[in-house]
Amino acid sequence: MALPVPRLSIPAALALGSAALGAAFATGLFLGKRWPPWGYRRHQRLLPPPDNPLWQYLLSRSMREHPALRSLRLLTLEQPQGDSMMTCEQAQLLANLARLIKAKKALDLGTFTGYSALALALALPEAGRVVTCEVDAEPPKLGRPLWKQAEVEQKIDLRLQPALQTLDELLAAGEAGTFDIAVVDADKENCTAYYERCLQLLRPGGVLAVLRVLWRGEVLQPQPKNKAVECVRNLNERILRDARVYISLLPLDDGLSLAFKI
Ligand SMILES: C[S@@+](CC[C@H](N)C(=O)[O-])C[C@H]1O[C@@H](n2cnc3c(N)ncnc32)[C@H](O)[C@@H]1O
Ligand SMILES: *[C@@H]1O[C@H](CO)[C@@H](O)[C@H](O)[C@H]1NC(C)=O
Repeated sequence: MALPVPRLSIPAALALGSAALGAAFATGLFLGKRWPPWGYRRHQRLLPPPDNPLWQYLLSRSMREHPALRSLRLLTLEQPQGDSMMTCEQAQLLANLARLIKAKKALDLGTFTGYSALALALALPEAGRVVTCEVDAEPPKLGRPLWKQAEVEQKIDLRLQPALQTLDELLAAGEAGTFDIAVVDADKENCTAYYERCLQLLRPGGVLAVLRVLWRGEVLQPQPKNKAVECVRNLNERILRDARVYISLLPLDDGLSLAFKI
């Protein structure tokens, strides 16, 4: 079996095959520009650098990406904004946590093209369900054929409306305390509200994951440049002081917080 290509092993400059462009990259000409579309965040990623051989080794010796996940990842990276996809090792970790706690019901806030939803669905039993929330109808259209190909489409319940609305509907329907795992990767403006509602929807022993909690390192800035940083920072403080959960913050990609409901 061929080793799956880790998400970050397709340097844009190489794909474009131009030495001149490569040189421009090296001299930082493109730094801070949105071209290539998936290159922007990569420059600002935290630890460790994606082209680091040790990191590549880690991925090549730990990733067991389902063929449908791999296809979806490669397809997504070709899209504008493709880089807002979760990384493959993050999705694999979340899927493994779901398996570990024998999860049946999962919440996925921020479907995008459906990579995390697919990874979670593959980790759930036949009767499992992933409620995945998205406001933009377009990106999940890319993922649906691959959900089908992986034969888990029936487990994925896509709700095309603001995530807060879906969470409130689930609470109103009496589903508090019934979810096993929740993944928060939608807008940052509402992240504290997502955290609180997801915590209510989780059962004790459930896992709450929040993505991008280091926000490219901007959480360190004394005067945050934008609202998102402020929201992320407030949430990080809240989780730290929250006696209802055990926590871990992993330096994967832009930071991944795990809160384990007590
Ligand atoms: C970082 S991406 C999610 C990545 C995805 N989890 C994956 O594995 O590839 C964030 C997504 O959240 C969606 N989003 C933004 N605001 C939202 C809201 N209020 N409710 C639901 N989804 C929202 C965006 O449209 C975007 O597709
Ligand atoms: C935050 O949630 C509110 C209420 O659903 C919604 O109107 C708003 O668009 C959300 N913010 C973002 C950035 O998605």
